[in-house]
Amino acid sequence: MAKITIFDTTLRDGEQSPGFSMNMEEKLQMAFQLAALNVDVLEAGFPASSPGDFESVRAIAKKVHGPVICGLARMTEGDIRAAGEAIKAAKKRRIHVFISTSDIHMKYKLRKTRKEVLEMSSAGVALATKFTKDVEFSCEDATRSEPEFMYEVVTAAIKAGATTINLPDTVGYTVPDEYGRLMDGFFSNVPNIRDAIISVHCHNDLGLGVANSVSAIMHGARQVECTVNGIGERAGNASLEEIVMAIKTRGDFMRHTTGVRTKEIYKTSKLLSSLTGIPVQPNKAIVGANAFAHEAGIHQDGVLKRRETYEIMTPQSIGLSQNKMVLGKHSGRHAFSARMAELGFRLSKAQLDVAFKRFKDLADKKKEVFDDDLEAVIGDDIAGPSRTYTLVYFHTTTGNSTVPTATVKLEKNGEVHMSAANGDGPIDALYNAIDKITGVKGRLANYQVRAVTGDKDAVGEVTVQVEFDLRGRSKGGSKNGANRASARGRAASTDTVEASTLAYISALNRVLAERRTT
Ligand code: KIV
Ligand code: ZN
Repeated sequence: MAKITIFDTTLRDGEQSPGFSMNMEEKLQMAFQLAALNVDVLEAGFPASSPGDFESVRAIAKKVHGPVICGLARMTEGDIRAAGEAIKAAKKRRIHVFISTSDIHMKYKLRKTRKEVLEMSSAGVALATKFTKDVEFSCEDATRSEPEFMYEVVTAAIKAGATTINLPDTVGYTVPDEYGRLMDGFFSNVPNIRDAIISVHCHNDLGLGVANSVSAIMHGARQVECTVNGIGERAGNASLEEIVMAIKTRGDFMRHTTGVRTKEIYKTSKLLSSLTGIPVQPNKAIVGANAFAHEAGIHQDGVLKRRETYEIMTPQSIGLSQNKMVLGKHSGRHAFSARMAELGFRLSKAQLDVAFKRFKDLADKKKEVFDDDLEAVIGDDIAGPSRTYTLVYFHTTTGNSTVPTATVKLEKNGEVHMSAANGDGPIDALYNAIDKITGVKGRLANYQVRAVTGDKDAVGEVTVQVEFDLRGRSKGGSKNGANRASARGRAASTDTVEASTLAYISALNRVLAERRTT
């Protein structure tokens, strides 16, 4: 039985995909939970890509203990130094350097010859070893690269000090047999391959990310790169929970193990959805709402007679318990904070004060408060940026023969500002009134509402993506000096109009906070 190293890249490859961006506080929350999940390596970000990413990696390296903390770098001196600096505080640290080895990438993207790529690889790895002895080298687009050229590059990279060799299926192009054979080729043709471990990193463009990863393991790969809920570029990366549970459930065949605490899987998946506001599809393997639900009569009958008739793993093995009522109107602060910690939230005293008040307000309106309600009502501004504007009051009128109007009061720096506007509907009117107060015009790029739990008193969760035009503000410009900035906001309430208002304000606060730090 070999132990497979689980390399989590949720906060790097996952986070860089559209809609999944997180701020530093959110990344820290996620990183603490990944440590609780016991991943071996945590790729915390790409430090040279932005000052925000650099600071997030640095904060994770300082505060999160357990996994090896890894920073990504292109094969340039600036990137490698930035990664080395960002991970410095971690006890166990890794630099992950990458360069393309396929002809198409070298010719059109890098505009480099094979000789140049070979030289850059050796030099980059050698520089990275000045910051840590744990250096990973990736041949980007490996599955479309000529194997003979990769053998040469990888031999040189190992000689320069690389201890892990990653062969990514960057564009999700390979198929399981072919990928397995690629692994075999490295074992037979790279003389020093036993001085490093082979890693795989699969994208899911053809839906084969997990299958390809499993095939590579069967052919000798000992590290798998993956993300929670399978998030990542385009169709995503191979999903961590699927790989881990495949190895656990089919240990009889695969004869490998991982160090992952599988009982933390469900909580980790939920935390990611709640931080990003992007729900998991119901039929998603392992963590989808239907993954352990049996609908067909014959199946239900079988499971009732003997669970194993239709269940190959238990819900308990991923930490899934019944969606039970945990707290009510009489629950105290202690019980509330303990439950939040169990759900994976690490809240400061000030954050807990806000969250507890929201919970009490909800418990006054809703008889039964479920875990899902708690996660939704906590909102994305608890772990998120400081709030510039706070909602004090709103009022709307609407009807099928009246012009929808709204009045809003927002508080900023102890002062209350009020405005009124009309619109196509009550929410449009509310957003117009907010825009009038803030002087920032928002365009709604996406608006989603969902009922968190069942019944008529269910909490409604609203997620918005708003593009703000910051030209109306005195210190014009947002991130990178641009006048436009896009942000996600999410909020929940038993009143969906209120949730819509709070979600919009949350997106606005996010943009304003980001603007202050860039
Ligand atoms: O998909 C890819 O090739 C990557 C590399 C940076 C490892 O994400
Ligand atoms: Zn990738």
